[in-house]
Amino acid sequence: MKAIVYHEYGSPDVLKLEEVDMPTPADDEALIKVHAVSINGSDREGLIGKPLYARLGGLRKPGHPILGSDIAGRVEKAGKNIRQFQSGDDVFGEIPGYHGGFAEYVCVPERTLARKPANMSFESAAAIPQAGVIALQGIREKGQVQPGQNVLINGAGGSAGTFAVQLAKLYGAEVTGVDNTGKLDFLRSLGADHVIDYTREDFTRTGKQYDLILDVIAHRSVFAYRRALKPNGTYFVVGGSVATLFQILLLGPWIRRTTSKNMRILVVPQNKKDLISITELCEAGKITPVIDRRYPLSEVPEALRYVGEGHAKGKVVITVE
Ligand SMILES: NC(=O)c1ccc[n+]([C@@H]2O[C@H](COP(=O)([O-])OP(=O)(O)OC[C@H]3O[C@@H](n4cnc5c(N)ncnc54)[C@H](OP(=O)(O)O)[C@@H]3O)[C@@H](O)[C@H]2O)c1
Repeated sequence: MKAIVYHEYGSPDVLKLEEVDMPTPADDEALIKVHAVSINGSDREGLIGKPLYARLGGLRKPGHPILGSDIAGRVEKAGKNIRQFQSGDDVFGEIPGYHGGFAEYVCVPERTLARKPANMSFESAAAIPQAGVIALQGIREKGQVQPGQNVLINGAGGSAGTFAVQLAKLYGAEVTGVDNTGKLDFLRSLGADHVIDYTREDFTRTGKQYDLILDVIAHRSVFAYRRALKPNGTYFVVGGSVATLFQILLLGPWIRRTTSKNMRILVVPQNKKDLISITELCEAGKITPVIDRRYPLSEVPEALRYVGEGHAKGKVVITVE
C-alpha cells in the first residue's frame, strides 16, 4: 500500500510517498481502508519533534514512520475479538499513539472507533475526533461553561480551537478567540465576540480576566495566565511548551491551594463516548467541522506546510483515493 513515511524529525521535506507493507490487524483491531484523514497540531509536532513530548515514541528519530491520527474509512477486515463492526462498515476515530493514518490502510482498535453517520462525509467525520473531543472536554465536560461566562480560547483558529469557539458559544459564553492576524475574521464568523491577534497583543496583559481559558498552545509563564483569570476562574492547557506544562504541573496545585484559581493540564483520553457526543452535535447542525482545504495523500507535505505556515483556518483534510 502507499503511505507517507518519515525517518527523521524535520520540515515537511522529510516526508516521502512510499510503498510499504499492509498492516495486519490484531484480534481487537479492525483493518480500515482510509478514505480521509485530518491534520492536527499533534501531526505537526510529531513531524518536527517539538515540543519535547512529541518525541515520547522516539527521542532521536520517530518511533513510528507514519503520522496521521484521525481517520474515517471502511472496515476491510475485523479482528476476531471485534464485536461492534464488520467488513464493509463505515467508521471513524482516533488512532492510539497518533500514528499510521497517512496511508491507504491502517489498523485501529475497536475501542477508539465509532460508526460514521450515514449522512456525514468521510472528510467531515475525519475532522472531528481529536479536535472535537479536546474541545468537548475543555468547554463542556471539565470546563462546565455556563451562560454569560467569559471564555478565552488561545489558538482558537486551529483544529481544537475551531470546535471550542463554537461549543463555548453554544453554551452561552461570551467568547474571545486568540490567533494570528489572518484568522481573526474567520474567528468572528465562527461566533467569537472578541478577537485578539497574538502577533500584536498579549492577552495576559490587557487587564481583562476570564472565567475559563482553554489554551491549546501555551508558552507563557504560569503567573501570566493566572493574571488573566477571574477569581474562581479555570485555566486548562492541552498543548504547548514543555516549560509551561511543567510550571502548571508543579505550581498548579500550590496556586489552587493559595488562591481561588484553578490551573491544570487537561489530559484528554481518547474516548468513544465523547466522540459520539460531539458528533451528535455536528449531526444536529449545532457545531460544524470546518474544513479549510483538502489534499490528496501524495500532497501531505504540502498540506503540513500550509498548516505550519499559519494559513489553515480550522481543519485540513487528506482524501485518500
Ligand atoms: N492534553 C491532551 O490530552 C492532548 C491530547 C491530544 C492532543 N493534545 C495537544 O493539543 C494541541 C491541539 O492543538 P490543535 O490540534 O488545535 O493545533 P493547531 O491545529 O495547530 O492549532 C493551533 C492554533 O494556534 C495558533 N497559534 C500559534 N501560535 C500561537 C500563539 N502564540 N498564540 C495563540 N495562538 C497561536 C495557530 O496559528 P498559526 O497558524 O499562526 O501557528 C493555530 O491556529 C496540540 O499541542 C496537541 O499535542 C493534547
